[in-house]
Amino acid sequence: MSSTFSIPDKQAVIYYERNGGPEVLKYSTEFAVPSDLSATDILIKNKYTGINFIEVYFRNGIYPADFPYIPGREASGEVVAVGDKVTNFKVGDKVAYLGHKNFAQFTKFDSTQSTILNLGQNATSKQLKLYAASLLQGLTALTFINEAYAVKENDYILVTAAAGGVGLILDQLIGNVKKAHVIAVASTDEKLAKAKQNGAEFLLNSSELSNDQLAEKILEITNGKGVEAIFDSIGKDTFDLDLKVIRRKGTLISYGNSSGAVPPFIINKLSSKNVKLLRPQLYGYVAERPEFEHYTKELFDLINSKKLNIDIHKVYQLKDYPTATKELEGRKTTGKLLLEIPN
Ligand SMILES: NC(=O)c1ccc[n+]([C@@H]2O[C@H](COP(=O)([O-])OP(=O)(O)OC[C@H]3O[C@@H](n4cnc5c(N)ncnc54)[C@H](OP(=O)(O)O)[C@@H]3O)[C@@H](O)[C@H]2O)c1
Repeated sequence: MSSTFSIPDKQAVIYYERNGGPEVLKYSTEFAVPSDLSATDILIKNKYTGINFIEVYFRNGIYPADFPYIPGREASGEVVAVGDKVTNFKVGDKVAYLGHKNFAQFTKFDSTQSTILNLGQNATSKQLKLYAASLLQGLTALTFINEAYAVKENDYILVTAAAGGVGLILDQLIGNVKKAHVIAVASTDEKLAKAKQNGAEFLLNSSELSNDQLAEKILEITNGKGVEAIFDSIGKDTFDLDLKVIRRKGTLISYGNSSGAVPPFIINKLSSKNVKLLRPQLYGYVAERPEFEHYTKELFDLINSKKLNIDIHKVYQLKDYPTATKELEGRKTTGKLLLEIPN
């Protein structure tokens, strides 16, 4: 292993030891820094890490977690040590990556994995912030609108949580880039105004309309036909609504559980309209290196050419993650939430 950096033994992390609400989250400055680097591992000193709703599912037990559990799915930072067989990274390189356990100062990452970008030695703190803010949600939206359902010009597309992190990116990509009609659902008028600024055309307030009323409005907008595709991150509460408003031969992409997991259902429910149903996850679209390179290039081309804006709601300090997630789970946020990692 080579390193010119003096790596401490202890680090600051967010972790938990049992499932539960935000109250199980702990902040410690006494957690061991990973020291068992293999020949292909690198050690990354994180600078920013993105907050994603998926952390809630692991914490509350919808998805299984091993304890003690350090959350985190994406981050940016600097390589501070490299294993003996690492050829593609040097100490001092700045990186952005999809990987685990990065609500922490240091993360061990196997450099042979596909989901990491080498940003070179000179990437700025501002760039590190942007990469941590855009990688997971940006790639999710971009891969889904190309692969889960290839959105076409003039399609009618339903987007739930349309002012959320993924939602605002979907609005822009579907409405502005693909020139389709976004029907946005969100729970407040402020959120809907934000969705509109980002490319949504039709705005439906889920606090004011029941699911039956939402269905009626969506069918009205689409002349009774329903929508070509639905990007639904709400799960349980909206699944039956989705089946009502999907058009014949439409594609229903159920990609999140913000209201709870969709319960088991009878598959014949799909046959009256020949509905295609997907439950995709991002990693399934970027598992191979050429896929990750293709979509990250497209994502940052869109961002750099100002066709896609990444709306950062707020940057919280690592220790304040419990506050951040309470706001996210309490539906008080729009766009992306980030954590800044202490030096
Ligand atoms: N499959 C994948 O690979 C993948 C990848 C990324 C994200 N996701 C999923 O996409 C969704 C969005 O993620 P995000 O990180 O961008 O979060 P987000 O959309 O910024 O936040 C969640 C939003 O969900 C809505 N919501 C509806 N019912 C809710 C409830 N009962 N409790 C809390 N929120 C509720 C709220 O918007 P309103 O108040 O406007 O309803 C809330 O703001 C999540 O479900 C996430 O798991 C999936």
